Amino acid sequence: MCILKVDNIHKSFQENFFSSPFQVLKGVSFRLEEGSITGFLGANGAGKTTLIKIILQFISQNEGQVQWSPRFGDSHRMIMSHIGFFPERPYFHPHLTGREFLDYMGKLSGMRSMDIKVQVKSFSAMLNIAYALDRKILGYSKGMLQRLGFVSAIIHDPELLIFDEPLAGLDPIGRQEFKVVLKQLHNRGKTIFFSSHIVPDIEEACEDVLVLDSGTSFYHGSIDHLLKQNEKDGYHIRFRKKGNEREYIENIASAPLLSSFIQRQDVEIISVAKDRIHLEEVIYRSKIRK
Ligand SMILES: Nc1ncnc2c1ncn2[C@@H]1O[C@H](COP(=O)(O)OP(=O)(O)O)[C@@H](O)[C@H]1O
Ligand SMILES: [Mg+2]
Repeated sequence: MCILKVDNIHKSFQENFFSSPFQVLKGVSFRLEEGSITGFLGANGAGKTTLIKIILQFISQNEGQVQWSPRFGDSHRMIMSHIGFFPERPYFHPHLTGREFLDYMGKLSGMRSMDIKVQVKSFSAMLNIAYALDRKILGYSKGMLQRLGFVSAIIHDPELLIFDEPLAGLDPIGRQEFKVVLKQLHNRGKTIFFSSHIVPDIEEACEDVLVLDSGTSFYHGSIDHLLKQNEKDGYHIRFRKKGNEREYIENIASAPLLSSFIQRQDVEIISVAKDRIHLEEVIYRSKIRK
């Protein structure tokens, strides 16, 4: 079932009265399905944050429509109660402890103290930040802030999570952990939509991708499907030459060439693998074709 319908969004910014408007979004349309996990991909400055702000009604569009499932209610407050949002540049009150901050965020969403306690316990364990909750935020590292922000965004247990660059600024281990948590939340039935400019992160964590390019929704759909459509014919073969311990690697362009290679008497095959294509390459190639 569709929970969000974004239709033909246009947005331009004007620095001041005298400058000409600068068009960032030139007709973005897509639908978000319940239970999906979607990576929102676009280069820096492509307009990801702008689109997210429009979806959440923090800024208005020049043209086009954003429609939430009627189930989300009609006031902004009701809609937001179904959404966990983690902004690109979150603000934390530095003199609060992590726990005080989460308590404050929970109360802002109208939660009871008891429920806040339960949620803080479960999500801070999941995000590996429980150990630091009684310290002042002032002393948190970037990764710890990111974890705390993540917990604060999901404390009211929303069904849809919208994260703007949640992996930015994390080290490789932190990125890996976050991707695992995103997948876990998806497996618990959450709908997840997160932006990133890093293709492999999206390829690894998501099932669907929405690609924003030149102000439009360039592709929206299954990553698997996109990769299959662009599958390579080639093979990657590892072998030894008879009477020689050394390993060789060769790329073979097609199935017929592979079968004649395998029939050779002078080689011993170690392994054969189909060349795997990566999302990065598909997107790059289709942009050249355009
Ligand atoms: N309030 C604003 N006023 C003027 N220009 C803006 C404003 N917000 C964003 N922009 C411009 O719009 C473009 C898209 O920005 P943004 O949505 O932040 O991109 P992304 O999140 O994909 O990196 C950028 O060129 C940015 O400078
Ligand atoms: Mg951004």
